[in-house]
Amino acid sequence: MDARPSRVAVLGAGTVGAAVIRSLQRHPQLQVAAALVRNLRAPRDLGDRPPRLTADPDEALEGADVVVELLGGTELSTELMRRAAEGGARLVSANKAALAERWEVWGPWVAAGRVGFEASVMAGTPVVSALAGPLRGSRPLALHALLNGTCGFLIERMEAGEDFASALAEAQRRGYAEADPALDVDGLDAGHKLTVLARLCALPELGWERVRREVRGIRTLTPERLAALARRGRRARLVASLWSDGASWRFAVRPAALPEHHPLICVGPGRNALVFRGDLVGEVLIAGPGAGGEATASAVVADVLEAVAGRPGPAPLERELPPPPPSAALEIEELPES
Ligand SMILES: NC(=O)c1ccc[n+]([C@@H]2O[C@H](COP(=O)([O-])OP(=O)(O)OC[C@H]3O[C@@H](n4cnc5c(N)ncnc54)[C@H](OP(=O)(O)O)[C@@H]3O)[C@@H](O)[C@H]2O)c1
Repeated sequence: MDARPSRVAVLGAGTVGAAVIRSLQRHPQLQVAAALVRNLRAPRDLGDRPPRLTADPDEALEGADVVVELLGGTELSTELMRRAAEGGARLVSANKAALAERWEVWGPWVAAGRVGFEASVMAGTPVVSALAGPLRGSRPLALHALLNGTCGFLIERMEAGEDFASALAEAQRRGYAEADPALDVDGLDAGHKLTVLARLCALPELGWERVRREVRGIRTLTPERLAALARRGRRARLVASLWSDGASWRFAVRPAALPEHHPLICVGPGRNALVFRGDLVGEVLIAGPGAGGEATASAVVADVLEAVAGRPGPAPLERELPPPPPSAALEIEELPES
């Protein structure tokens, strides 16, 4: 047995990266060798044994057994993972944007079992491994999910009567929404995550551009529209769905109205949730935190432990599944633009 601790490089030490660095220190078989950042002087809590910080990607990647990518974005992240893969490292990432948009690069690494990406969808709440594991025994009929916590927060504030602009300002003040909130409120982040999930359970080669055309965000929701829905016993949510019309697979991210008793509503405020319907298993509900440094670190650290134990990452589907007969809409009523 190799007594040397496995060397882990962490690219990015922001909200998630810093939590990952702190959490990896609980595992004596791991050594966080270096972390890549832009700003070497920024204050950060990196635990009792902080790694060497560097702004030089080559220095960060040097000698790493596992490279954890927590930069965000699609270009630098993909380029650095390419260098890490060429150097023989195992890869771990929480980056759904890069996975969704740069699949031509990431797909072969995933197919080779070299990537852990549990944290890319619903953070620490396990859905990637569920879809790539135990749920594979059923033919999927449909999947409906709440995949963006910021949209959930904004809708809940508007349900309480606040207008979109001030709800968004509050989300930004609390650090839930970025300065540029487009990825969240225009549905793109949920679209990225739906792309990752749909590939795992039905359409292994699904391209981001096809999904992107079916993505609509929540900017047209208003407190007045939400109040009118409430009078009908309905709640609006940004719902990401994969279903079949009998002839082909369909997918969409859009605001939808759900009854109060719907499983995606019953999970309570502030949570991500996914309902999977399979022909053998029936309806499965998975719910939990979908964001936050610590919750995301939980899944990232699990992927690092799997990698150093030599176990492969989630396997892609081997081939596209034919669309099943049309599935019931699970009481999800798509909301029109206005
Ligand atoms: N936040 C969440 O709750 C969450 C949940 C699930 C998945 N994710 C995913 O996790 C990833 C990281 O998210 P985050 O919220 O931790 O982002 P973040 O707080 O913005 O952190 C990004 C980190 O990357 C570093 N970085 C960015 N560009 C760089 C560059 N050109 N060179 C060197 N370093 C660079 C930043 O350095 P500086 O600190 O010096 O600026 C920062 O440390 C994203 O892919 C995100 O989608 C996040």
